[in-house]
Amino acid sequence: MLRPAIRRFLLLCLATILSMPALAGPEEDREAFRAYFSQRFPDVPLDEYVNGIYALDPKAREQWLDIEQFPPYEFAVEQGEVLFRQAFANGNGYADCFDNGGVGVRQHYPRFDPALGEVVTLELALNRCRTRNGESAYAWDSDELVALSAYMAWTSRGNPIDVEIPDDPRALAAYEAGKRFYYSKRGQLNFACSDCHVTSAGSYVRADHLSASLGHPSHFPVYRSKLGKVISLHSRFYGCVRDVRARPFEEQSEEYRNLEYFLTYMSNGLVVNGPGARK
Ligand code: HEC
Repeated sequence: MLRPAIRRFLLLCLATILSMPALAGPEEDREAFRAYFSQRFPDVPLDEYVNGIYALDPKAREQWLDIEQFPPYEFAVEQGEVLFRQAFANGNGYADCFDNGGVGVRQHYPRFDPALGEVVTLELALNRCRTRNGESAYAWDSDELVALSAYMAWTSRGNPIDVEIPDDPRALAAYEAGKRFYYSKRGQLNFACSDCHVTSAGSYVRADHLSASLGHPSHFPVYRSKLGKVISLHSRFYGCVRDVRARPFEEQSEEYRNLEYFLTYMSNGLVVNGPGARK
């Protein structure tokens, strides 16, 4: 663990780089984000961050490795595969809506859709695929949608995250909005995401040991043993915003899609390893 003075210095470097809009494009942001964690935790290889808190907490890691022997998300992957292969009433299927038949494409989401002018997450793309084919949309927190997402993550395991910000001012604006959300203080507790998952990563907030944001989107959806079910990334956003006593946004709101865009871009180059298992 580094001394507080060094931590403050590293954070100042990160904050300075991130607040230089003229110089810092998304790529500079990403490099600064990674550099912060590699300097802060020199013994943790960058590839390990996809394992969340288990990258930073060896004891919890052992319990998690035991859990992974009989992965609790396996059922969701199987259910997702069945659903994925079921044809719609019009004879089309999910495979018709995605590149490569929807197999091994998780790493390209969220993506900026130039025709719609907005960020499209995997869940949104799945539901749009349904409605375009005359099917009703699933609820964002439905078991079906989460299972489809789990299956698509599973087929993409090991693929490096590759989120693109195309040369389009609207894409950059979405990224910047996500970044602002991430660094803004909110709620009665007046915490930003970065206060817990950057500044305090590896430390305890009350009984909770905090993970780094680097790698956060890599393993979603996630089976949570506390809830006994698999949940989406936006459901986690919802919980963390509520926990600082702010009013949470809805899953798949523009705010959370932009946040996911920023956060996933920060993890570009790390691999997809979803679905995951967490407490
Ligand atoms: C008050 C501290 C706090 C704040 C602020 C906070 N979180 Fe969290 N967050 C937690 C805790 C505690 C956990 C569970 C332990 C862990 O994995 O860090 C968690 C878990 C997560 C996870 C799941 C990690 C995994 O490995 O699966 C994500 C993603 C996440 N937070 C995103 C966010 C985002 C985005 C924000 C800002 C909107 C945010 N958090 C704000 C405390 C916080």
